[in-house]
Amino acid sequence: MTICYSLTDFQQALSLIPNNYKIGFVPTMGALHQGHISLVERALTISDSVIVSIFVNPTQFNNPNDLARYPRTVEEDCKKLKEAGASVVFIPSVEDIYPGNDTRNISLGGLDSTGEGPRRPGHFKGVAQVVTLLFDIVKPAYAFFGEKDFQQLSIIRFFTGELNYPIEIISCPTVRESDGLAMSSRNTLLNAKQREAAPHIYNTLKRAQEIASAQILPGTREKITPEDITPEKFTPVMLSRWVESEINSHPLLKTEYAEVVNSLTLQLVQNWEEAEDIQLCVAVNVNPVRLIDNIKLKQTI
Ligand code: PAF
Repeated sequence: MTICYSLTDFQQALSLIPNNYKIGFVPTMGALHQGHISLVERALTISDSVIVSIFVNPTQFNNPNDLARYPRTVEEDCKKLKEAGASVVFIPSVEDIYPGNDTRNISLGGLDSTGEGPRRPGHFKGVAQVVTLLFDIVKPAYAFFGEKDFQQLSIIRFFTGELNYPIEIISCPTVRESDGLAMSSRNTLLNAKQREAAPHIYNTLKRAQEIASAQILPGTREKITPEDITPEKFTPVMLSRWVESEINSHPLLKTEYAEVVNSLTLQLVQNWEEAEDIQLCVAVNVNPVRLIDNIKLKQTI
């Protein structure tokens, strides 16, 4: 495995990969866990060569403390990537990625109007900026992203299509700890008590999924305890409020939002019939750490 600490080194390594090779690309910000490794493993199944980037992108952090706190474990990351079978690791400097003023204005198609968008101003603009610049440098045939960052994945799919990149965006399922907590580099920042509390997020999402399926498919109603269904019918908005209060019932967890959205447009839905695919997305503060997760509530195949 070749490790490149500069753009020049990376371009040299890239020039040694045969032109007809299909490159699989896994962009990351490091602090790698099994979720990232699952992306590399998926990439290996369909690519001739797998390239991983490690770059903590400053332009996508709207909170300077979050950027300063972001875990950095490059040496361990490289060990894990070598074991997983990656061919090249690209670890650029900020100057490599942003040599000048980037004045492009990449359309996000309005997919940033809910969820993380309004709560982290500029975040998705920064993601679009770095992902397109990395695509331009790496020129992959495939790029792999995890479903934990559901909104990010939708936005990346959107601008990749909009800008006519000949790159297939491949989504990979969220990898979870044995207690259900979605794997995230930020989990390492939780203290022991917070780590114990955090699985309550996914447990609540699973219960919400059961409640939703009882609304959508009334036959499954008996799966839920009677106190979960107080009013005759749980609308998507009522379900969001229930999720918030259920998560907030744990003293260490504070929901920033719980939104039920159309999985394609990411717009809030008012009733279960309105969209074929529906997703529940949450962000939860486990002070000062912020965790996100999501679950499918309705899917029409
Ligand atoms: O998901 C991430 O780790 C980052 O947002 C990404 C896609 C690597 C861009 O910096």
